[in-house]
Amino acid sequence: MSASRPVSERLALAVQLAHRAGRTALAGRRSGSIDVATKSSPTDLVTEFDTLSERTIVAGIVGAFPDDRIVGEEGADRPGSTGFEWHVDPIDGTSNFFYDLPVWAVSIGVVDALGPVAGAVYLPVLDETYTALRGQGALLNGRPIRATDSTDVSTSLVATGFAYDSESRTRHARVVADIIGRVRDIRRHGAASCDLCMVACGRVDAYFERGLHSWDLVAGQLIAEEAGALASDWSGGPITPDEVLVAAPGIHGGLIALLSGALP
Ligand code: IPD
Repeated sequence: MSASRPVSERLALAVQLAHRAGRTALAGRRSGSIDVATKSSPTDLVTEFDTLSERTIVAGIVGAFPDDRIVGEEGADRPGSTGFEWHVDPIDGTSNFFYDLPVWAVSIGVVDALGPVAGAVYLPVLDETYTALRGQGALLNGRPIRATDSTDVSTSLVATGFAYDSESRTRHARVVADIIGRVRDIRRHGAASCDLCMVACGRVDAYFERGLHSWDLVAGQLIAEEAGALASDWSGGPITPDEVLVAAPGIHGGLIALLSGALP
């Protein structure tokens, strides 16, 4: 019965599938022009490699853990009975992928009754694999990583991202405009799972966004928390995909104060 198998087996599979899907997508991207369509808005892209990557990952999960639930960005939605759920973003940062910018990832997270329990985020261009198991720390290419020890919001480097619909983007731009003068600087990398991993390895001090989906969040949230970052919504309540703040512990409270004040 797959429910009783150790969660480390699920992480190992997540890494294997993220590598397989990510390397295929990278080779496809480098081979020339790619088929692309739009989804929720004219700016929300989906390429042939998003779809292929999700198919590869779902087939791999179903083969090994047929009774686990699977949710994927490109439409995968399989019921399950084990209590384990996989949240799959086959290419997070599709616009970057399309424009051949290097920050995009395959993100595969697993949730159980207590929340995120295993996560793998693979950045093919940089060949970086971020992993975490709940309670066991976070790794980048097998080495432990930690969030920064920043304690001063005014000198913190903060990443953010913008949802696809234009009203939310405009609202979020106002929040960013409100806080940009009170932090060191803002970064917009274009892939939520990568932003979360950058908090985890200390390349930025914090990340906040609104309007994510579970597949953008689950793996990277666990990796960041296991690296010592704190995760919440913008008011300090439980984190949800709809409102995400993940920050080095010494500035988490200060950022809540800043974001609460900036709420439109
Ligand atoms: C998007 C990226 C982007 C974030 C959006 C996400 P996708 O995911 O993570 O950085 O700002 O909110 O939807 O569509 O490239 O998989």
